Amino acid sequence: MEVVIRPNAETATDLVARVIARKLRDNPRLVIGLATGRTMESVYARLVQMHREQGLDFSGCHTFNLDEYVGLPGSHRNSYRHYMNHNLFLNVNVDLRNTHLPDGAAADIEAECERYERVIAHCGGIDLQLLGIGLAGHLGFNEPVSSLCSRTRIKVLSPVTRAQNEALFTPPYEMPRRAITMGVGTIVDARHCLLLATGGDKADIVARAIEGPMTSMISATALQFHPHCTVVLDEAAASRLQEVDYYRWIFENEPQWEPFRNGSNASCLDGHLVKPRRQKKAIAPVLDGA
Ligand code: GLP
Repeated sequence: MEVVIRPNAETATDLVARVIARKLRDNPRLVIGLATGRTMESVYARLVQMHREQGLDFSGCHTFNLDEYVGLPGSHRNSYRHYMNHNLFLNVNVDLRNTHLPDGAAADIEAECERYERVIAHCGGIDLQLLGIGLAGHLGFNEPVSSLCSRTRIKVLSPVTRAQNEALFTPPYEMPRRAITMGVGTIVDARHCLLLATGGDKADIVARAIEGPMTSMISATALQFHPHCTVVLDEAAASRLQEVDYYRWIFENEPQWEPFRNGSNASCLDGHLVKPRRQKKAIAPVLDGA
């Protein structure tokens, strides 16, 4: 695991957007796992800006979102499909047929979960999985005591998650009690996991997720076993970590981060985070619900 600490939310967000842009430029057919939540809104705003100002091209990529509320069709204003369309998809040149979320309104939820896993596999797995972290320590909606080997399935949302997210619903009691979420096992199958957390309210759960013991009580601790996981934090979210000096030392001395040490004015075209990959075969679109 790499832990990168930036001075504030803006610089942390910018670094995450630049990592995504770098990977997308290296591999235009990137399969990207996407997350929702307030933290991600500024990442998507930055990607939209890069698309408009620098021509960042989403036309060849496929996307898979972590989760969706059960009972909400994609047309519902509080669905994650709606969130993704409005924060990212409709503002860049991604082919909507290549953007995937679980269907929260599916008649047979179990079959929908199996279908979602199949479509991910059909696309060759997820290259880069963007992640936030909830106050319950969840990835996606993998609430406390989620199996660390779990696959896409339905979960009842914990009281902590309900309290965190119900403010986004009007009225709050309309927030569904269950969601379809990629499992922890599905998430850690991604080739690279990239988690962003900002703000002092995340400091405690971030410290437990990164430096605490691995436990199904906090599904984000599963990232400790991941072979390529990058956690990007602002100072506030990092404020309860024990080893901040060590993480800063690594960031300052690790050559791969050299192009990313500057602020948001630096070009996202500079340097290489990863070696350019050979281009993969084109993947035929698989429509959600197919
Ligand atoms: C929701 C999503 C999570 C995300 C979390 C973070 O619960 N299901 O994937 O990590 O929001 O939310 P925020 O960024 O608003 O703190």
